[in-house]
Amino acid sequence: MGDKKHTLTLTDNATGKAIELPVRYGTEGPPAVDIGPLYRDFGYFTYDPGFVSTGSCRSAITFIDGDQGVLLYRGYPIEQLAEKSTFLEVAYLLLYGELPSQDQLDGFTNVIVRHTMINESLKSFYQGFYHDAHPMATMVGVVGSLSAFYHDSTDIRNPQHREIAAHRLIAKMPTIAGASYKHSIGEPFVYPKNSLSYAGNFLRMMFAVPSEEYVVDPVAEKALDLIFILHADHEQNASTSTVRLAGSSGANPFACIASGIAALWGPAHGGANEAVLRMLAQIGDVKHIPQYLAKAKDKNDPFRLMGFGHRVYKNYDPRARIIRKMCHEVLEKVGDQHDPLFELALRLEELALKDDYFIERKLYPNVDFYSGLIYKALGIPTNMFTVMFAIARTVGWVAQWMEMIGEPDQKIGRPRQIYDGPAARDYLPIRRRKSAPHGAGTADLNGEARNTD
Ligand code: CMC
Repeated sequence: MGDKKHTLTLTDNATGKAIELPVRYGTEGPPAVDIGPLYRDFGYFTYDPGFVSTGSCRSAITFIDGDQGVLLYRGYPIEQLAEKSTFLEVAYLLLYGELPSQDQLDGFTNVIVRHTMINESLKSFYQGFYHDAHPMATMVGVVGSLSAFYHDSTDIRNPQHREIAAHRLIAKMPTIAGASYKHSIGEPFVYPKNSLSYAGNFLRMMFAVPSEEYVVDPVAEKALDLIFILHADHEQNASTSTVRLAGSSGANPFACIASGIAALWGPAHGGANEAVLRMLAQIGDVKHIPQYLAKAKDKNDPFRLMGFGHRVYKNYDPRARIIRKMCHEVLEKVGDQHDPLFELALRLEELALKDDYFIERKLYPNVDFYSGLIYKALGIPTNMFTVMFAIARTVGWVAQWMEMIGEPDQKIGRPRQIYDGPAARDYLPIRRRKSAPHGAGTADLNGEARNTD
């Protein structure tokens, strides 16, 4: 790894001992203190809620410099990939570490295309979901169920199995997503058409009906391919960490990716794109923006400006810059440039970026501030927005999962805690117990029974 010799020394006031911890360096980014010896040699854990200062792994896939607004996939700047590459080429890069030659790309495309269909009996799985199920709920269930279909690729110690599982997941995700949408609107599923591009095929599975010809709109196809590139990976975010943690126990890749989809769904993560559109609709008119900015700044109000802020970027999200430009292009060519929601979004962005609260906290628009507007212009319904994110991020999840499983010293992930509960005490027979008030997080069983309808 080429670590420079450097240590961090802490003094333990309780014992007077010096604690020496090695410092690790990557190719980019700040150094990291290796706290491995801390518990083993000195009996201390570290405490870092939300993992704001904790690196959970070494990874050679994606690098983010949040202060400079830099995002690299395998060393390549996102701006260059967005301009010159395609989603499947980026997928190859993330999975295998290098950009493919033409032969390698053709071979990879061919493999992905061969795996786009889903087992016919998997289709009946959808019938178990109520028609108005949120497509993300359907995605979690159907992707998890893939492990019941592909026993031939779930031996995670076999590199070939891992690779086939990765290809299957990347290939089937648009098909599963398209079917989730079709189920929710009561239309027949559309089979994949493998002569189309990854994005074009997905658009067709979303919008084609058996009774009519469907022609993929090249502007929509290009915009979607770009959005997929921008969302493909983002180092150790909540869903990727979830995939790694699930995978660290030896769970099969389909189950791991289903857990990633579940983690992505939350509004603080991938669910933000859906939340942005709901928020814009709620604001309704530019004249209400000051009132909503005040709500976002009010500590007693849970309202946050969705699509603003990021755990790592304390500068403009580089993906937001790229997608903002694409947003203009898409609205000009296929959408409505004068869509009041777009005008509202631009004005909101302008006012927030001038506001001291957002300036001081370095809160800039993130990728999700714009992706929803593009999806809307392409006719993709709001409840599919996070599904779109999941399709693209599957590449990052499987690349990170493969990297982790391939490590020789891979261990189960197992964080520790500071225990704040009661100290050790003796069991009392029931007749000697008094009714104690329910603590936070304790179920009020009577209340629960009352509220069940
Ligand atoms: N609106 C208003 N205030 C905010 C916002 C926001 N969107 N984001 C952060 N803040 C404030 C927060 O209240 C806190 O203020 P103070 O220091 O006075 O207590 C300060 O900024 C720091 O916030 P934080 O919650 O400690 O930051 P975090 O790194 O834990 O959270 C975040 C990052 C993305 C969860 C948060 O910015 C947020 O909730 N944003 C809205 C949801 C969103 O757009 N998420 C998509 C992220 S990008 C796509 C992805 O990676 O999935």
